[in-house]
Amino acid sequence: MKRLLSAVSAVYAMSLFNTGAIAQSANDGKEPFGKSPGGKEVFLYTLRNGSGMQVKITNFGGRITSIEVPDRDKNMGDVVLGFDSMSGYTAKPAANAYFGALIGRYANRLAGGTFILDGQTYHVPTNENGKNSLHGGTHGFDSRVWDVKQASTNSLELHYLSPNGEEGFPGDLNVTVRYSLDDRDGLRIDYTATTDKDTVINLTNHSYFNLSGPGSGSILNENIMIDARRYTPVNANLIPTGALDEVSGTPLDFRAAKQIGSRISGNFEQLKLANGYDHNFVLNHPGDLSAVAARVEDPKSGRVLEVFTTQPGIQFYTGNFLNGSVHGIGGTYTFRSALCLETQHFPDSPNHTNFPTTELHPGQVFHSTTIYRFSTK
Ligand code: BGC
Repeated sequence: MKRLLSAVSAVYAMSLFNTGAIAQSANDGKEPFGKSPGGKEVFLYTLRNGSGMQVKITNFGGRITSIEVPDRDKNMGDVVLGFDSMSGYTAKPAANAYFGALIGRYANRLAGGTFILDGQTYHVPTNENGKNSLHGGTHGFDSRVWDVKQASTNSLELHYLSPNGEEGFPGDLNVTVRYSLDDRDGLRIDYTATTDKDTVINLTNHSYFNLSGPGSGSILNENIMIDARRYTPVNANLIPTGALDEVSGTPLDFRAAKQIGSRISGNFEQLKLANGYDHNFVLNHPGDLSAVAARVEDPKSGRVLEVFTTQPGIQFYTGNFLNGSVHGIGGTYTFRSALCLETQHFPDSPNHTNFPTTELHPGQVFHSTTIYRFSTK
């Protein structure tokens, strides 16, 4: 199995994190965003590109709170679910939906909250109805205050040191996430991580997209293409069985673009187990940032979202747990009123030796890149 975590020298790794003074230049778009539950002041940063795209990110959980891009008539509008205050993110049930957040140490699920590494069994919080560990545990990266290493007009670099043993995971883990905008309406996310002990990681961003705007109703009329010949089927607890099944002949075949809602209610066990789409797709071109991994088109607004990634998988989630109990920017977040495209390693990989490894060792540098690119048609 091809190893997807790249290793370069430890010297390079050190130079990434011992950069000395924090550069805080040229971002006039920094404003107070309130206090974290632990009482730390957090901020909201506005990134802009040369063509009018605007993205807001808070260092609380590294969360994207809004992305404004043009529709086919050149009207700017937000395309992600979010809140304009801290309390929106910390109140339940919104806090359990991970709106716009950076996810770690382990994105997606770890069965029973356990895994074996170097012959040792590790226990991490079972924060999903007591069954699995989901998205890093009870206090994952989504609820941490990230250090701002650099902020400019069109980029923001965040850093978080997750100490050895945090949420049960081994090793001091240094994580840097850099958000940057280009002038072709691309939002690029670069993730870098190093450890001082053998550990496992899976990092992603958990933005909920609705190309017609947050609070504008169902995404079932949007069309999606996913460049995946296989997916990882799940059991009733949404844990991969370990199989890598073909999408061919199933409602998970999105190799040619299909309307999201066209088969979602079909008589197919995987859709029933997840109450819709909530599956990891095995990308056909892992590591290839020039390949379109997924493409969403919204007939209403004319907006198009393309996802590019170096990661081997993508979780396509149709907001099946949204139920109208959360009110955020744009209105009420109803059932299936947004979709997530979480680029990632496969769920529960440490417990499946046939999946690409998520182990990270001292001296290695983990690096991945995802680009969300917007356009119209
Ligand atoms: C998971 C869903 C979960 C959602 C919010 C997604 O990544 O696959 O099952 O409900 O995150 O936690």
